[in-house]
Order: sequence, then structure tokens, then C-alpha cells
Amino acid sequence: MIRVGINGYGTIGRRVAEAVMKQNDMKLVGVVKNTPDYKARLAVAKNIPLYCVDDSGVSKFRKAGFDVSGVLDDLLKEVDVIVDCTPGDVGKTYRERYFGAGVRAVFQGGEEADVAETSFVAQCNYERAVGRRSVRVVSCNTTGLCRVLNAFDTAFGLERARVVIARRAVDPEETSKGLIDAVVLDPVEIPSHHAEDVNTVLPHIDIVTMALKVPTTHMHLHSLILSLRQKPTREDMLKALSETTRVKLFWRSEGFKGTANLYEYGRELGRPRGDIYEACVIGDSVTVKDNEVFLYLGVHQEAIVVPENIDAIRALMGEASAEQSIKATNQSLGIV
Ligand SMILES: NC(=O)c1ccc[n+]([C@@H]2O[C@H](COP(=O)([O-])OP(=O)(O)OC[C@H]3O[C@@H](n4cnc5c(N)ncnc54)[C@H](OP(=O)(O)O)[C@@H]3O)[C@@H](O)[C@H]2O)c1
Repeated sequence: MIRVGINGYGTIGRRVAEAVMKQNDMKLVGVVKNTPDYKARLAVAKNIPLYCVDDSGVSKFRKAGFDVSGVLDDLLKEVDVIVDCTPGDVGKTYRERYFGAGVRAVFQGGEEADVAETSFVAQCNYERAVGRRSVRVVSCNTTGLCRVLNAFDTAFGLERARVVIARRAVDPEETSKGLIDAVVLDPVEIPSHHAEDVNTVLPHIDIVTMALKVPTTHMHLHSLILSLRQKPTREDMLKALSETTRVKLFWRSEGFKGTANLYEYGRELGRPRGDIYEACVIGDSVTVKDNEVFLYLGVHQEAIVVPENIDAIRALMGEASAEQSIKATNQSLGIV
């Protein structure tokens, strides 16, 4: 069993914790929580041992009536891998503490790429992470893009990718930031950071990305224009996508006209919290003109990186091939 700890039990940490508990080859030893709030109560309700960052956190939690198993350093003594799910740029402040304890670390996409030895999307570059000390699962947008771009590149050769990303303004629970009444250029500069991030996984891809923030909380929507080296038919492209793991096609004839339908579909699937782990391609949007292909891609920002975190743990431990790990993760999470 791979013994796993999680530092940060927020949007991503809660989902990764639950996914770890579903793996036959992993044991969730505990999670580190900073604030003694209802999310900490949820961890207790799921029988997940709670740890605090330091001793002052322990007193705070005990005063609030929580049973605490120790501090982060205690957790690090008990695990093989720590999954850092703290907010962006906070993970790097823990890096040396993880390594000092001899623990391998998975970081998230809110960190700079140099926080870890390699950036990671399982179906694109699993082998690069095998046996390493650290890996960074890239952001939700980058994960969705890499899955689709890699599929086209492998099947037809990708010459160029141009992408406009409409980003959800905030996550559903982020009430302090509010919902915007605007379309915000985020960032104004072109390319947005997503292009560089894709290149941390697929370095050879010629890609330019632009990003806008729009008033929604549930999903991102990407508009892709891709130039291919070959001139496949539309059917060839749909076949390539349908044969790619963790990419799912949705159809207008079945009522999928945008993110609201995808979000509703996710809620009806019966997965925890309505999570959609797949990159969602609207099949009808796949349009071919000469060697160019156009399509829309939906990304459930809170969920798409969850399977990647599970595969990243196995890759670090070097105990499974990409194919074995992706299969096990997919089965455990209900990804067909
Ligand atoms: N949210 C998304 O849609 C999304 C998608 C893909 C990737 N990511 C990336 O995943 C990472 C985590 O994001 P998130 O959205 O899950 O964040 P989040 O919901 O804000 O959760 C962060 C967690 O870290 C804890 N924390 C805060 N400061 C800490 C510190 N100094 N030391 C230890 N723990 C601390 C928080 O503790 P308390 O709650 O106890 O205060 C909370 O449990 C980021 O790198 C982000 O860029 C996020």
C-alpha cells in the first residue's frame, strides 16, 4: 500500500482525499487542515485523521472540539507521498520540509513549474515522473488542453494550436471574491500563461493562448483552432477523440449546448459533487477546413485534475506503468 498524506483540504484536497480512499493500492493516512471549520468536520465524518500545520493549530483545533492526530511533521513520518493541495505559491514554502522528511511530493498547478522535477498529465508524460522525488500536476485548463492536443498530435501531427479560454470567474464556494458583472481580460497580455504551461508537458507544441474571465462558477470553455500536418476527415478526428481516455464527446442532438448542460449532466451522473473528470468536447463543434480543425472544449475546473493526482502518486512510487495506473484510476472513479 502507498501511504498518502494531503496538505490542504480545500477544493482539490477534499477530492483527491476521496479518490485516494478509492484506490486498492493506497491508504490515506491523514489530511492537514488550517481552520477548524465545517470542512474539518466533514473530514472527521469520513473517518479521515486530521493534522494541523503546527502546534498553534493543534491548540486551536482542540479548543474547537476536534481530535487531532498531530502536526504536519508527524504526518510526514507516516507517509510515502504527500499531495500538496495548499493555495497557489504556498506549496513551494513546504517543499524542503517534505524532502527533508524523505517524502515524495505531488504539487498542484498553482505553483510555478520549477517547484517540481517535472510537470504532469498522465496520458502525455507519465514516464517522465516515474521514480522522481516530486511532480507538479498542471492546472485544470492545461490538463484539458494537453489531453486533447496530445490526441491530435499523436494521430495526425499538430502543427499549431491557437486557443481562447473563457474562464469561470470563481469557484462556487468563493463568496468573498464575488461573481463579476463583466468579461475581464485575464490576462490582458497575449499569450496567457496557459501556453507556457502546456509546453511544460508537451514542449514541442506551437501554441498561443488567450484568456477571459466570464461570470460563471462551474466550468471553463475553450475555443480551439488547430492546424494539423495531415488532412484527416472529420470522422477520423471524432474517432481519435472518442478513443482517447479521459476525453468525452457530448452532442447537441442530446441537448448539450454549453456548460450549463455539462454541469447538469455531471450532477446527474451520481459521482461525488457532480464531478466531471473528463475533458468535455462538444462533438458537433468539431469542424474541418483544409488542414485546420475547430472545436469547443469544456473543463470542470474542480475535478479534472483529480485522476492526474492519483496517477502522479503511482508514478512517483514507480510501481505501475502508465497504462496500469490510468486503468486502475479510471475504474475506481467511474471513468469509462
Ligand atoms: N480550485 C480549482 O478549481 C483548481 C483547479 C486546478 C488546480 N487548482 C490548484 O490546486 C491548488 C489548491 O487550490 P484549491 O482551489 O483547492 O484551494 P482552496 O480551496 O483554497 O484550499 C486550500 C487549502 O489549503 C489550506 N491552506 C491555506 N493556507 C495554508 C498554509 N499556509 N499552509 C497549509 N495549508 C494552507 C486551506 O486551509 P483551511 O481551509 O483549513 O483554511 C485549504 O484547506 C492550487 O495550486 C490551485 O491553483 C485549483
